[in-house]
Amino acid sequence: MPLTKIKNVLANEIEVMRSNNTAKGDEMVVEKVVQASGDKGPRFIIRGFEGKEFIRMNSNSYLGLSFRKDLKEVAEEKAEKFGAGPGAVRFISGTYTTHIELEETLARFHGMEAGMLFSSAYMATLGCLSSLISSDSIVISDELNHNCIINAIRMSRPKEKLIYPHLNMDSLRKALEEKVGAGKRVLVITDGIFSMRGDHAPLDVIADMCKEFDSKYEEGVLLVVDDSHGVGAFGENGRGTIEYTNAKGVDVLIGTLGKGFGTNGGYLVTGKSIVEYLHQKAPTYIYSNPISPGEAASAKKAIELIDSPEGKEILKRLRSLTHQFKQGLIDNGFETLPGEHPVVPLMIRDTRKTADTVKFLKENGVLATGLSFPVVPKGDEEIRFQISAEHTPKDIQTVLDVLTECKKTCW
Ligand SMILES: Cc1ncc(COP(=O)(O)O)c(C=O)c1O
Repeated sequence: MPLTKIKNVLANEIEVMRSNNTAKGDEMVVEKVVQASGDKGPRFIIRGFEGKEFIRMNSNSYLGLSFRKDLKEVAEEKAEKFGAGPGAVRFISGTYTTHIELEETLARFHGMEAGMLFSSAYMATLGCLSSLISSDSIVISDELNHNCIINAIRMSRPKEKLIYPHLNMDSLRKALEEKVGAGKRVLVITDGIFSMRGDHAPLDVIADMCKEFDSKYEEGVLLVVDDSHGVGAFGENGRGTIEYTNAKGVDVLIGTLGKGFGTNGGYLVTGKSIVEYLHQKAPTYIYSNPISPGEAASAKKAIELIDSPEGKEILKRLRSLTHQFKQGLIDNGFETLPGEHPVVPLMIRDTRKTADTVKFLKENGVLATGLSFPVVPKGDEEIRFQISAEHTPKDIQTVLDVLTECKKTCW
């Protein structure tokens, strides 16, 4: 088929996105990673910028685990033993010991009864919500929840959907009060960490509220949390936002293995009865391949590492580097937002200045992500910096110096 007709329609749509500033920019292609040495963290060589080394301040690999030899070695060892890919979905012949061991490890790590792997956190969210949301369910969701939650709710077609203003606990309470009698089951859904600003949901307050209203609904109130940016990297022991807020009563926790844990894949941990049900119902689990046996082994190794004395040191280093960067921004007269998560927003509040600063950073060897309307509301334009334990204090100082120079010359 020559695609003559559709080609023009699609090209026009992209053109509209470009003129609205909603189109994605070109992808950067990493051609080489120069390993960390001395007081320099890893450097990235990008296609089109040959010879230039970049500090990466826009990765979700918060603990820097993806470069670790022990994680790579165990993946290789299991690939040798079981093959590079699973060969089938879990129910056909795609379940390996490494998948089961990882699910058990994740459940133990989070203090839940059972774990369930998916090919990504996005797939975990789609599979979980589309199965647990019935046509008689009320869904209550934070307005800044991740795209995977938004699409999962659309796909699930609940009886009613209520979106509350970001972190507004009065509105959440009001929704829970108002909907008594309107549906059998309520699902309250929130991100743990909100990835654009690094702020977090008060899960302790939300969990208590869900408990308070549980008896008022025939099938209860379920609290589902996607803490993809929290697990592994946040909280004293890397348990994420639940640990940070000391929340009790999260029913389903969704996480990714592709950020703090430095590997790949997604999961949820919850009660045994829910996992049993999702094994029967979740389409993204039943009809889609799992992560490879090697990836599963590597993720298990990452979790064991986080729970070791070395892991505690890595978490401590991440907190210290995050503090250094945040304090450095404040000391140099920049605006940031309160919080201890390694996503550190530099609030610029101007689209052109944001773009100019990202350009200046890139010219000076720093990769960071600028966020402008419509990704963030008008007036909240920012550059999102993501700190990683793979950075060194000198790297952080270098980035602060480049920013200070930029403020002098291009603001
Ligand atoms: C809150 C949140 N949930 C889910 C995801 C998706 O994770 P994964 O890459 O494992 O699908 C992301 C990724 O950016 C995220 O920020």
